[in-house]
Amino acid sequence: MTTTEPDIRDFDLQAVPGDFIADPYRYFAALREHSPVHRLPDGSVMLTRYDDLCAVYRDPDGWRSGKKADFAPKFGPGSPLYEHHTTSVVFTDPPDHRRIRNLFQAAFTRKALEALRPRIAELVDGYLDAAEDRGGMDVVEDFSFTLPIAVICQMLGLPPEDRVLIRDWAVAILTALEPKLTPEQLDTGNRAVTDFKAYLTDLIAHRKAHPTDGADGEVLTALMEAEEDGRKLSELELLHQCIFMLNAGHETSTNMISHGVHEMLRRPDQVARLHTDPGLITTMVEEVLRFQAPIQINNRRAARDAVVGGVDLPEGTVVHLMIGAANHDPAQFAAPEQFDIGRQPNRHLSFGLGIHICAGNTLGRIEGEIAFGKLFARFPNLRLTGPAKLANRIRFREVTELPVAV
Ligand code: HEM
Repeated sequence: MTTTEPDIRDFDLQAVPGDFIADPYRYFAALREHSPVHRLPDGSVMLTRYDDLCAVYRDPDGWRSGKKADFAPKFGPGSPLYEHHTTSVVFTDPPDHRRIRNLFQAAFTRKALEALRPRIAELVDGYLDAAEDRGGMDVVEDFSFTLPIAVICQMLGLPPEDRVLIRDWAVAILTALEPKLTPEQLDTGNRAVTDFKAYLTDLIAHRKAHPTDGADGEVLTALMEAEEDGRKLSELELLHQCIFMLNAGHETSTNMISHGVHEMLRRPDQVARLHTDPGLITTMVEEVLRFQAPIQINNRRAARDAVVGGVDLPEGTVVHLMIGAANHDPAQFAAPEQFDIGRQPNRHLSFGLGIHICAGNTLGRIEGEIAFGKLFARFPNLRLTGPAKLANRIRFREVTELPVAV
């Protein structure tokens, strides 16, 4: 890491400096220190201090998640991307949010998630067997991507062979949320929503016709049947919650696992610590999440005039909640640039906070515990055989390649 402080006076999320992806935390440190409420050329504002993010997350009446005003000009009203990103739970406000979120809660009980543990362990063992046979693997392709998508496909009852199709749709739909988009990306994103909807419409029709079709897909059945305020999800709402869950439920966990393996392998002392005390696995997962937040940005829009960090922000202001910056704020975390698998307390914001806090956080944590626990226990000599490659994305912090020998 370079020690010189970067000049952040003109920092713009739409045009980040060339070395930002490799190490955004240098920029975040300078922003937190000199411009914690940082105005961007398009009028939006970046927040980087932990306390400021918490204040916004905790005030859903003052700070809205609904994105109609933002996405109409970005995607075009009536476009498939607009329809998806304004219907999924994460971008709705109360009262719709409460209704849809409660339906999710019904499908995501702790008991249902805990029941997935043996299945997750079985999947992990299978991937590690294959890695052992080959003497190594690309962590992303052979482990961190395959596991979460297999889990979420099972929860919704999707055939495992469709995983690659789903990954490609997910990447196209989520890439459309990046601050800057090319016309091709917009086009691919719109096509992905249309194709994904057609695919799920068939699946739902099949499930309606065969309601007792195996134990797989229980979450889908629960979402189809659950009622809140005497209402079920409409067909369109159901389709978009499924698309959202398939997207939200795998890329994030994938990147948590990839980053965790990478950060550990760069620090043999932490790997040794975990071997000596495997009970550190729960705090390790939290530290991985804090250190390299898989989702780096959440957004909110001011529903009325507000003051954040002592700065007046008029109604309508869009804020970028910079999770990675808050997670490295020395006002909240001692020695924040140190990766410490025993860190406690560790109140990172990687799952957000408040009414929209990640509905899949327990599942993400379970996946992390089993994946890291089994990987490091089984391969004590695990080592990197090449550099990690990072995608050129800002909102999602994505590892694209991570070769290791076992
Ligand atoms: C390590 C893995 C994960 C990370 C880092 C993560 C991160 C997040 C974050 C930051 C939010 C808050 C968005 C906001 O406030 O604007 C969120 C919401 C959400 N996540 Fe996750 N997530 C992960 C895994 C999952 C999984 C596995 C699922 C489902 C299977 C899931 C489903 C959801 C849902 C449904 C919401 C929307 C909740 C709401 O709006 O009320 N997430 N996630």
